Amino acid sequence: MKRILSGMQPTSQLHLGNYLGALKNWVNFQEDKEAERLYCVVDLHAITQPYEPETLAKATREIAAAYMAAGIDPKKSTIFVQSHVPQHSQLMWLLSTMAQMGKLERMTQFKDKAGKNAERAGLGLFAYPVLMAADILIYKATHVPVGEDQKQHLELARDLASTFNTRYGVDLFPQPEPVIAGPAPRVMSLRDGSKKMSKSDESDMSRINLIDDADTIAKKIKKAKTDPEALPDNLKALDGRPEALNLITLYAALADQSKESVLTQFAGKQFSEFKPAFIDLAVTRLSPITARMNELLSDPAQIDASLREGGEKARDIAAPVLQETMKIMGFMP
Ligand code: TRP
Repeated sequence: MKRILSGMQPTSQLHLGNYLGALKNWVNFQEDKEAERLYCVVDLHAITQPYEPETLAKATREIAAAYMAAGIDPKKSTIFVQSHVPQHSQLMWLLSTMAQMGKLERMTQFKDKAGKNAERAGLGLFAYPVLMAADILIYKATHVPVGEDQKQHLELARDLASTFNTRYGVDLFPQPEPVIAGPAPRVMSLRDGSKKMSKSDESDMSRINLIDDADTIAKKIKKAKTDPEALPDNLKALDGRPEALNLITLYAALADQSKESVLTQFAGKQFSEFKPAFIDLAVTRLSPITARMNELLSDPAQIDASLREGGEKARDIAAPVLQETMKIMGFMP
């Protein structure tokens, strides 16, 4: 049985990188009849860094709405909120006894987020990857679609699965496989082709947010950094032209076309010709998602009901796995 699990933090507005690098993929997995899918909003992870309690629930709903607006159908995939399934936290504690400090200290995301002040970083930020491992293992998930930057965390989840199995002489947890795929696994900033498109970039011009309206999208694409050359007729010729490559990648991903065929179409053209076509495409593809998201958010009770239902389904899977884990570990029934 193939079970796919992934999640996103409700920390701020989603952008094109989240959509093309993750969500669009998650939607594609719905065609896989052999697989079961669980997509959670990882709110417990979101509190590992400074946050506003007043906006946590709202942000959680917004991410759930984005999942649904992007095309994840709650009837085909289980959409739920991490904190609604207490078994994630419970399994995390059990796994934390097997997670080596040395390995956690080597996590690049921890080092980045803790910055110079690692002494003052919270235990939660340090233990973040153990909670992520619990998110995955509590469902015995086999496939985990993640970005390149999460590979190290997934490695820890694999490690904890086999440490547990070996320590207790069982075959409880399968090895979760990272799935790093999709039309555009690395979407770069519109202002600098060597930097990832990121919600933490201080320039909003560097990214296209899923809530941007058509005018904003057009403005951002018009201002997107390019180079003075015309577009070539082959991919190889885009080496050393990171901004051009990024725009072609984005166009291809949005159009469900290969990069080669996009280049065939625009070979010899200047960006002044490419950009208007790109604006049209981006607006055509993104505005239905934005509209759907706004529609969903106008009726939060409906989203909440859907998430409650998803939470129930998730708990039905997670509860027996936790029970089995605790039995193996020798806890009193
Ligand atoms: N750490 C992931 C990220 O920042 C989010 C996440 C938390 C996740 N738990 C997960 C992703 C479990 C996949 C599976 O992108």
